[in-house]
Amino acid sequence: MANSPKQLMANTVASQTLPRAGAGAAAVNDADDYVRPPARPLVKIAHDKPPTHPQQVHISVVGANMMRISWVTDDRTSPSVVDYGTSPANYTSSATGDEPATTYTFGSAYTSGAIHHVTIGPLLPATTHYYRCGGEGAGEELGLRTPPVNLPVEFVVIGDIGQTEWTASTLAQIGEKDYDVALLAGDLSYADCNQPLWDNFGRLVHPLASAD
Ligand SMILES: [Fe+2]
Repeated sequence: MANSPKQLMANTVASQTLPRAGAGAAAVNDADDYVRPPARPLVKIAHDKPPTHPQQVHISVVGANMMRISWVTDDRTSPSVVDYGTSPANYTSSATGDEPATTYTFGSAYTSGAIHHVTIGPLLPATTHYYRCGGEGAGEELGLRTPPVNLPVEFVVIGDIGQTEWTASTLAQIGEKDYDVALLAGDLSYADCNQPLWDNFGRLVHPLASAD
């Protein structure tokens, strides 16, 4: 059952690359038949939490048994610390930032919040770990499941994500899948030099990017 999305994708690719069969054969998926759906509006995700609240949380694999947790706080003095463990609200380990939180500016109009990166581990494979960014009381508990140590590893592969209602639809479909690792091929936010849209993108993908 878990393989059915992959099989569907493989079937689609195969049918698009095969030459068209002779008369009487079943119709094939032809790229010429594709009708691009119209654009849909941006999805704005307001930031209505305190300045110390960890927002835009996203995780990434950085080694065989390590994960990097990244987030942004409007408060530039917030600590880069992650508490974590394998039971909810029972944090048996703690890690601090690889480096002080950084900020960046874009022109004279935009200065980012504090950007935090903390690497946690070694973690157990194929195990849900519960974690909290920024110390006690800063934000809610989040959970991530590490990839398995053995094959098969199931990937979700996405690119050109953007931040429209189509994006929300795509993210919702991914959220329904039971995968191990999401592979982002880029592009991401399509902020197009409107830097607050990078923050909006971070908040839009946070529910998915902070988990699994
Ligand atoms: Fe693109």
